[in-house]
Amino acid sequence: MNLQAAEAASPALQVENISKRFGATQALDAVGFRVGQGEVHALLGENGAGKSTLVKVLSGLVIPDAGSISVFGDRVDIARQGARAAHDRGIRTAFQEISLIPDLTIADNLLLPDAPRRFGFVVDRGAANRWVEGVLDRLELHDIDPRADVAECPLPMRQRLEIARAIAREPRVLLLDEPTSALSSRDVEWFARRIEALRGQGVTIVFITHRMREVRRFCEGLTIIRNGRQVGSFPVEDISDDDVVRLVIGRSLAATFPPRPETSPAYEGVPALAVKNLRVKGQLDDVSLSLWPGEIVGVGGLQGMGQHALLYALFGAQPTDGGVIEVRGEPVRLSSPRDAIKPGVGISLVPEDRKTEGLALKLNGRENVSLPVIHRYSRFGWLDLARERKDADSLLDRMQVHPRALYRPCLSFSGGNQQKIAIAKWLITESRILLLFDPTRGVDVGTKHEIYLLMREFANAGGSILFYSTDVLEMVKLCDRVAVMYSGKVRATFAEGEISEEAIMDAALGGVARRNVEKAAALK
Ligand SMILES: Nc1ncnc2c1ncn2[C@@H]1O[C@H](COP(=O)(O)OP(=O)(O)OP(=O)(O)O)[C@@H](O)[C@H]1O
Ligand SMILES: [Mg+2]
Repeated sequence: MNLQAAEAASPALQVENISKRFGATQALDAVGFRVGQGEVHALLGENGAGKSTLVKVLSGLVIPDAGSISVFGDRVDIARQGARAAHDRGIRTAFQEISLIPDLTIADNLLLPDAPRRFGFVVDRGAANRWVEGVLDRLELHDIDPRADVAECPLPMRQRLEIARAIAREPRVLLLDEPTSALSSRDVEWFARRIEALRGQGVTIVFITHRMREVRRFCEGLTIIRNGRQVGSFPVEDISDDDVVRLVIGRSLAATFPPRPETSPAYEGVPALAVKNLRVKGQLDDVSLSLWPGEIVGVGGLQGMGQHALLYALFGAQPTDGGVIEVRGEPVRLSSPRDAIKPGVGISLVPEDRKTEGLALKLNGRENVSLPVIHRYSRFGWLDLARERKDADSLLDRMQVHPRALYRPCLSFSGGNQQKIAIAKWLITESRILLLFDPTRGVDVGTKHEIYLLMREFANAGGSILFYSTDVLEMVKLCDRVAVMYSGKVRATFAEGEISEEAIMDAALGGVARRNVEKAAALK
């Protein structure tokens, strides 16, 4: 058989019996699957199931203990050649924990690891810049300035750049580890166009996501792994959503979203939080809204319309240029998060980027959870470790974080487990007002369900939640009201019964029925 015939006969990617152990954790146990050329194949599994470890093995960054990988029938010798072997076979990866270097410009990041060179060592700047511009143009990244430092880019932009960098290097096999986790609907459309183009070029794609909708939309086949073991591979059209959930988490979920309470919040007396004419130059333009006890309010809108500035300002982490913030009727000054979390105020934030903002990565899971309330466990300078352990353990158990996570530094947790700990950390503070910035990013279906229940319980107990999500469906299903932002302003507010994906999207794009604009004014 000649080489071309051999290529045609072999699957584009064949993974066999891959095993990998980290200390006591068997991250992968004889996992295998195959993907045909031009196919988009989903890899599904709970947080910590082993998906990213598998991606790192395929990228040559983690040496497996056993198993083999072939691309078009050609064995990739990861153990001997590492990342170079994967790269030479045309494997390119967009990593879950974005691998861009913050201190370099976007252009330099796109050029890594090998910029066009002249005479072997001098970087040819002119050619390099033209190449970068060509890439940004071809991939429809017109809003991106290649001279900006990556550190200045918001997370969703960094995520698109991580994808772009992998695509720009002309992959034969493209590995995408939760590429859409921080993308909202408009960016997911951008992603969809990239997938279509790659499919047209015959590129083979492995795609990790926790959103079943995306699996249906983009993938032909799927493989499920649980606790490092392969559960099975299926054509997407042959398996129902319910069956996928059951195989992913090992049990059925009756309903993903909790029912709404029978009575809606009272809207009487004083609101838990009132924001009046809040301004942040270039980001918030006279924003007024209120949050009542017992209510979950969504902050909708396209990415970058001021949601981030609003939530961070309310946590004292974003300087403001005017406006008043009242907590239970009393004006408060929030110059730093310390002002926000102190007992009389009680505002907590689950931030966007757990890695840099949400967690002390060197501390273990329990220490992270009890960190904001550590004074509670301190008596005469001694820590009451037994009590700290009991409280943290019960929360982490509730969030289904593996008990091992209690003792190990957060650095070694899977992405979703880090997010769960970032949330548990704030639930323990007993704040009355919770600001949640995309709290289910990268969280698996089973735990999402737990987080939804916790949110509803928190509200039912009289707490208030201001909630931004990149997943419109979450807003529709969970919120009592949704305020949609457009260009730094609250464009419309929808009350229960009026909230729908269409209404939110319409307002997000700037158009909205007059009646809702008037209502937004009335509800301030
Ligand atoms: N470098 C490491 N050292 C120790 N343990 C590790 C390391 N990398 C991963 N693990 C462990 O291996 C297991 C699998 O992790 P992995 O990151 O592959 O999960 P995942 O399926 O990608 O999860 P998520 O959906 O949360 O991203 C987890 O228990 C994790 O804690
Ligand atoms: Mg992962």
